[in-house]
Amino acid sequence: MNISAQLSRRSLLMGVAGASALASCGGGGGGGVSSPVSSGSTASSSSTASASGPTLPDPATAPALKTHFNGKFLVGMTAEPNEINNAISQPVLKAHANSMTAENCMKPHAIGTSAGVYNYTLADQVIAFASANNIAVRGHTLLWHQSAPDWFFAGDSTSATYRATVQARLERYITDVVTYFKGKVYAWDVVNEPTSDSAGSPYRNSRWYQVLGADYIEIALRAARAADPTVKLFINDYSTENADKLARLMSLVDTLLTRGVPLDGIGHQLHITTTWPPVANVRAAFQAAETRGLINHVTELDVSLYGSDPGSCFGTPATGCAPSLTEGTAAYWDSIRAQALQYRAMFDLFASQPSVKSVTTWGVADNHTWLSSFPVNRLNHPLLFDTTGKPKSAFWAVVNPTFVP
Ligand code: XIL
Repeated sequence: MNISAQLSRRSLLMGVAGASALASCGGGGGGGVSSPVSSGSTASSSSTASASGPTLPDPATAPALKTHFNGKFLVGMTAEPNEINNAISQPVLKAHANSMTAENCMKPHAIGTSAGVYNYTLADQVIAFASANNIAVRGHTLLWHQSAPDWFFAGDSTSATYRATVQARLERYITDVVTYFKGKVYAWDVVNEPTSDSAGSPYRNSRWYQVLGADYIEIALRAARAADPTVKLFINDYSTENADKLARLMSLVDTLLTRGVPLDGIGHQLHITTTWPPVANVRAAFQAAETRGLINHVTELDVSLYGSDPGSCFGTPATGCAPSLTEGTAAYWDSIRAQALQYRAMFDLFASQPSVKSVTTWGVADNHTWLSSFPVNRLNHPLLFDTTGKPKSAFWAVVNPTFVP
């Protein structure tokens, strides 16, 4: 897929994701994947198509990712509250993660019931699990165009006080939520996905932008810093591996830094595929942050098996999507092999960049991934652990340079 198709893919992807973002916390994100992968089957590790996967090492010999990358970056995974007690994901989280992110439960639609009224029930479950298992928590997210409850914007938009009212609601929400989680999260995605996908203005034309202008980002970051002087503050976005999108994001960031707005780092979502992006693009994204004195977090890594999806697959309606792979076929194993090589290339890069302090996969294991229902319902196995929670080829490719996927 070329760069523009990929950018449109991501842009449309996020547009549609919003509908399900409103689903109740603990619900969405897929899970309806088919039968477990028989990853330890007989077979070759050759690079030719084969109807079985490579022979994988004994899962009991798998090193803990958090130990393997100790001293480089924290290893994170996203989870819903129901996954922290789940027989597949809980052992993986406990063994491998020293960071985690709530997949949906810390978003404004989940926490912000109405002005000054908050629901922390599910978020508290994630925090309690993390704390009991020595896992740090990344806060995701305080402000996102896809999770902006109507009460923030209630009122007469033509009135002279409307702008100040909306700003006050935003400041109160961020102040209260950051204060609540003070000492319990080490970083916040203060603003998620503020960057435009089109040439021209760097700013996404979100409801926040429409009411408060570009100032909303500064307002959010300053409120977060005032509520917690030490938590790391991030702007998080997708397609930072796309040079044009990165340039727009950095122009937005430069405006903030020039104005002395508190900002510690850039979150790179990295929802990528078996064929995109090249490592050099991701390196360029890290370097752009680094040269501005910012740190980098990889916040939502997954590697879709469908590297050949055209941009139209992410349109409305979705057209031309690659047909669902069938587990166990030669085409499936080819994708799994390509995925392993992509994961290896990415982790090799992460480990070589001192500015990368945290790397999170968007999910734990292939039994639960948002990509099984987006952009269409189909099998997708984008993570490092299979549907039973066993390390996949991608895992072994990451931890063992001599492993042949
Ligand atoms: C997704 C969740 O995984 C889904 O369960 C939910 O239905 C929609 O949101 N970028 C982000 C994440 O920043 O918050 C999104 O998470 C995926 C895209």
